[in-house]
Amino acid sequence: MNTIINDNPLRQGMRLKRLPQPCTLIILGATGDLTKRKLIPALFSLFKQELLPQQFRIIAFARRPKTTADFVADMRQGLQEFAGIAVNDRQAEQFLALLHYHQGDFTEIEPHRQLAGVLQRYEAENGVPANRLFYLATPPSQYEAIVQNLGAAGLANSNNGWTRIIIEKPFGHDLASAMQLSGVVGGVFREEQIYRIDHYLGKETVQNILVFRFANGIFEPVWNRRYIDHVQITVAETLGVEGRGRFYEETGIIRDIMQNHILQLFSLFAMEPPAAFDATAVRDEKVKVLKAVKPLSPEDIDRKIVYGQYAAGSLLGKDLSGYLQEEGVAPDSITATYIAMKLYIDNWRWAGVPFYLRAGKRLPKRVTEIAIQFREAPLQIFGVAARDEIAANVLTLKIQPDEGISLKFDSKVPGPGGNIRPVTMDFRYGTSFGETPPDAYERLLLDAMIGDSTLFTRADENERAWEIITPALEHGQKLSVLPQYSAGSWGPAEAEELLKRDRRAWRRL
Ligand code: BG6
Repeated sequence: MNTIINDNPLRQGMRLKRLPQPCTLIILGATGDLTKRKLIPALFSLFKQELLPQQFRIIAFARRPKTTADFVADMRQGLQEFAGIAVNDRQAEQFLALLHYHQGDFTEIEPHRQLAGVLQRYEAENGVPANRLFYLATPPSQYEAIVQNLGAAGLANSNNGWTRIIIEKPFGHDLASAMQLSGVVGGVFREEQIYRIDHYLGKETVQNILVFRFANGIFEPVWNRRYIDHVQITVAETLGVEGRGRFYEETGIIRDIMQNHILQLFSLFAMEPPAAFDATAVRDEKVKVLKAVKPLSPEDIDRKIVYGQYAAGSLLGKDLSGYLQEEGVAPDSITATYIAMKLYIDNWRWAGVPFYLRAGKRLPKRVTEIAIQFREAPLQIFGVAARDEIAANVLTLKIQPDEGISLKFDSKVPGPGGNIRPVTMDFRYGTSFGETPPDAYERLLLDAMIGDSTLFTRADENERAWEIITPALEHGQKLSVLPQYSAGSWGPAEAEELLKRDRRAWRRL
């Protein structure tokens, strides 16, 4: 019998259980929303699937005075709310017993030294290697202090095991601060220890972009300027800023979604085939395509970008206030909650193909997708009269919430009339695999424990993404008012104009 040894993590992930070595996860900023809402439910799900190592422990490190029992009670309540567990769930209690609370101020070295002591004692008592995964779930303003204190407390390396650090987005506030942060983190940790997380890369449907493109032979030949008219990438949310007004004032849609989530979708979609499915080859190709993006020039930026801010409106019968009325938002704020932007890639595959990217809060529907509109057939032998509706061929990669892929093409309407109408061919994850995809954080936490950084952002990739959006950020700051759109609508009228000028239209979703 032939044994195929396969190092491909995606394949292994599908076929085999990938088990990490014994390790300790240290969540810094563990009393924040992310831990309760995302990290603990994802870890609990891995625990239930027996994907966590036998000897595993979670240290929750935060400033608030709490006991381990208090913290466990908070997380139990979080699991009830976000993972739907029942009261007295036996598995949940076994999982919660892995938690330990460590109190301290991130700006001081001492709590980090004490943490080193806690880790060493635990590792010695249990005879486990010093494998440590730090997760920075604090506000980004604390990253530098934490990294320096971890270094000063001797926690950047261990003699007997590996040390890795996961850093939540946003990694930097602009190009200069991203480079500064890279310098600080890079002064303490080596690049291969650093895992910059963008949770979009953990989504099954996002990983499937690569499988769809490179595991199938039939799509790659048409994946270029000869066949594709244009591409639309949409990240639409019904949510507003959800009580995070102050955070959003500093962030805005460009930093929150465009710099990371959308540019990740964009680069996976447009990159060249990597020579292998590994962290270096995949990320090299992503950087290459980001480098080929044509810079937005000050002369025509007005014609390539539309900003927007939601005003009061209504959604599903509910009245919603405008962004300026949200708590923590300045009454004259020019923070964008919507952006639409046109980019070109200057390379042989994509020259001349517009990529229309849009993201917005308080839009009518939650939907993330990449839609590829193909060129028309060279000759319309059926004539326009035969068509009930003019429609191009569109291939849609549906990232969420109706995960799947669909292809729209023309078909003959049954009957003697010879009419033509577009129909769709659909693949749905739920129907084909009988399950809904796991949460993105499960995959990413597991990969970081295993030491696979393919689905994490490299420093050069992150910096290139900042470079692409810097002109958009700078231009936005010069505006005194932003185009408004009613909450619950598809964005400002100016966004429609952006495509109309090119004789195209946004998809109606
Ligand atoms: C986060 C942003 O990164 O992504 C949020 O900070 C946004 O503002 C969220 O709501 C969207 O993620 P998802 O997985 O719901 O599409």
